[in-house]
Amino acid sequence: MFNTSKSEEIFAAAGKLMPGGVSSPVRAFRSVGGQPIVFDRVKGAYIWDVDDNQYIDYVGSWGPAICGHTHPEVIEALHQALEKGTSFGAPSLQENILASMVIEMVPSIEMVRFVNSGTEACMSVLRLMRAYTSREKIIKFEGCYHGHADMFLVKAGSGVATLGLPDSPGVPKTTTQATLTAPYNDLEAVKTLFKNNPQEIAGVILEPVVGNAGFITPDAGFLEGLRELTEEYGALLVFDEVMTGFRVSSGGAQAKFGVVPDLTTLGKVIGGGLPVGAYGGKKEIMSLVAPAGPMYQAGTLSGNPLAMTAGIKTLEILQRPGTYEYLEKITKQLIDGLLNVSQQAGHQVTGGSIGGMFGLFFTGENVHNFADAQKSDVVKFARFHRGMLERGVYLAPSQFEAGFTSVAHTNEDIEKTISTAKDVLNSL
Ligand SMILES: Cc1ncc(COP(=O)(O)O)c(C=O)c1O
Repeated sequence: MFNTSKSEEIFAAAGKLMPGGVSSPVRAFRSVGGQPIVFDRVKGAYIWDVDDNQYIDYVGSWGPAICGHTHPEVIEALHQALEKGTSFGAPSLQENILASMVIEMVPSIEMVRFVNSGTEACMSVLRLMRAYTSREKIIKFEGCYHGHADMFLVKAGSGVATLGLPDSPGVPKTTTQATLTAPYNDLEAVKTLFKNNPQEIAGVILEPVVGNAGFITPDAGFLEGLRELTEEYGALLVFDEVMTGFRVSSGGAQAKFGVVPDLTTLGKVIGGGLPVGAYGGKKEIMSLVAPAGPMYQAGTLSGNPLAMTAGIKTLEILQRPGTYEYLEKITKQLIDGLLNVSQQAGHQVTGGSIGGMFGLFFTGENVHNFADAQKSDVVKFARFHRGMLERGVYLAPSQFEAGFTSVAHTNEDIEKTISTAKDVLNSL
């Protein structure tokens, strides 16, 4: 018997204290219906709710938990850092160490600035794109999510897609007028935008593998095409690797696909579960950032020593031999198994994985962009999600979010997930 009485009680109280009872919208389970679970603790590949139900976790705090939750080495490093203080608001050696690791791992990054979230990284990189090119317009793709800053809330993915909000009230028209959009994987549409706005486009920003419209991969030649077009028109290419960074490979999607952007944003994994974001790229461009240059951007808690420590230890663990091979292997095993049992149960599905990131849509057609993703049967997804939850598997509570594995997920966890999915899919 799936008992969530304590979760229900706490969540009901939360609704009177915080909008929708949450600190971030998708957590409210609005698109899958049913009661959100309230967490008590996490360890390795598992989470426990306040009613003591245990789940295999494929959300991983929305990405950061790639080494598994509460990795003993991360916790030990944090204990030691804690003894020295929680915040300096001043330079620290930890910043140098994490910066060196990021520069070594991510091909496009020669210099980096730390911030506190993916949203901050993306809004700062946008200012930098404009400052460097002295142009204002940008191109983003439908269904891609770059945080909740005004100028990105145009045809955005993640919670915006989940809640079906086209744009958000409160965003001034003047802010989004300079945000041009194109369907993902549509090079021709991007070409037309460049042709129609010559000398006006600062750059193109995208998720090089989409995780905020469900899981969508770039078609062959798409990333390369964007690299060529941006060069041709004197614009910058920016990969938002907040989700894919250190997840699809040690050097992110840019290393995986061999396409090097001018600038990159990072988040999630880089903080090892503590709040960190970062943006970086060519020295020539990054030298515009204050105080080296005139583009202002700052943060009281940026470069926080605890957050840097968790990031350093997490990246160190990830660089050990075999890590990404293992992640790639179990994630493929998982998605192949899920697709297989779905088809056996008579459902139309499509999906895939790269590194430790995966996704599955309830549609028989291939998904190349957000419009294709929206053909997915979201009602069926909601029932699948609930069935999995009730049987101890925690998936992201939206069809329009990717799933994440960690190095703590075992073969046994994967096989158990597939057999659970088989039961649920047969009952739909
Ligand atoms: C690709 C991408 N960019 C930016 C963000 C925003 O990051 P944060 O939620 O840390 O502000 C996210 C969050 O999911 C993301 O997936």
